[in-house]
Amino acid sequence: MTSSRATGSEYMEWAKTCSQARFNLASSGVAELPLAELPVRLEDLELTGPSFYGYPPLQERLARKAGVDPGCVVAATGTSMANHLALAAFLEPGDQALVEEPTYGPLVDAASYLGAEVRRFPRRSESAFALDPREVEKALAPRTRLVVLSNLHNPSNALAEEESLRRVGEIARHAGARVLVDEVYLDALFERAPRSAFHLDPGCFVVTGSLTKAYGLSGLRCGWIIADPPSARRIWRLNDLFGSVPAHPAERLSIVALDHLAPIAARARRLLEANRKTLQRFFAARAELDAPPLEHGMIAFPRLRNGSVDELADLLRKKYETTVVPGRFFGRSDHFRISYGCLSETLAGGLERLGAGLDDLARQVG
Ligand SMILES: Cc1ncc(COP(=O)(O)O)c(C=O)c1O
Repeated sequence: MTSSRATGSEYMEWAKTCSQARFNLASSGVAELPLAELPVRLEDLELTGPSFYGYPPLQERLARKAGVDPGCVVAATGTSMANHLALAAFLEPGDQALVEEPTYGPLVDAASYLGAEVRRFPRRSESAFALDPREVEKALAPRTRLVVLSNLHNPSNALAEEESLRRVGEIARHAGARVLVDEVYLDALFERAPRSAFHLDPGCFVVTGSLTKAYGLSGLRCGWIIADPPSARRIWRLNDLFGSVPAHPAERLSIVALDHLAPIAARARRLLEANRKTLQRFFAARAELDAPPLEHGMIAFPRLRNGSVDELADLLRKKYETTVVPGRFFGRSDHFRISYGCLSETLAGGLERLGAGLDDLARQVG
């Protein structure tokens, strides 16, 4: 249980100040799509437009993508703002938020900042971090108003089974709580992506996502919340207290991206498939790492069998110009997170250096 209110995010501060490196295997997301590869014409852009409770042409496209009515869509600045808005909409100070553990730090920090009491339910490494509805049921308390989880799971990349999600929804609904699912990585399954949890029970599930990770479009900050229409309206009103109106050129660029999403996705998929094979070969050759097979997504969360991950991460950064995310940011100090959405040359160079760092560490330990 977290008691004092968060006033920032330790993980985000680290990510912004310490993760940049020549071989950055820390930042998640597919390598940025250059503007030159987005088929945008100057006449597609405008500085200001009728964006009040959403810019209608963008609302329509986001709704079509999610398979919902535009009244269910709240556009937001990345999944980050989408999460903040969704948490703010369903949590009053003193309410309990039941958040998966481990998870993406800012989810916990934002709930705490909003004055919620944060309880955790475990996703266990012994069961490959699978979502287990029984753990949710056990941890749920009378003041739990919101269950929070990510799918794909950050940091482990585990895909939640639809049946488990449905069951979590039933448990939450029975307790008068809602379920927030951060689906920012789900599109990285491309045509194999399961439908959004929202469709399992629109009165219970609220989901967030963005074009940032799976498509290499982080700079667009095109994010969304999908919720039942009354909740969506409430969230739009809340947004008046945060950003109010987004940058219209970004909305126009998001429309161009959404209209050309198939080739953008194909580029991302090719990159991830090639990189996944490279990383899988690396794991197979490194007995000191315990890593499940890579099937989808863009992150992996191996366990270091011996030695200190913090020392390894330090060595990589200082000696090898390479960064990974130390597991301590996820409460798992014997794991680290590798992102493999980067350019293939960056991954190859980073893995060569990670191998050298592991060899150095083995000599020290051994
Ligand atoms: C689970 C999760 N949610 C949200 C975000 C932030 O997404 P965005 O860049 O769209 O704001 C991240 C970024 O790493 C993430 O891992």
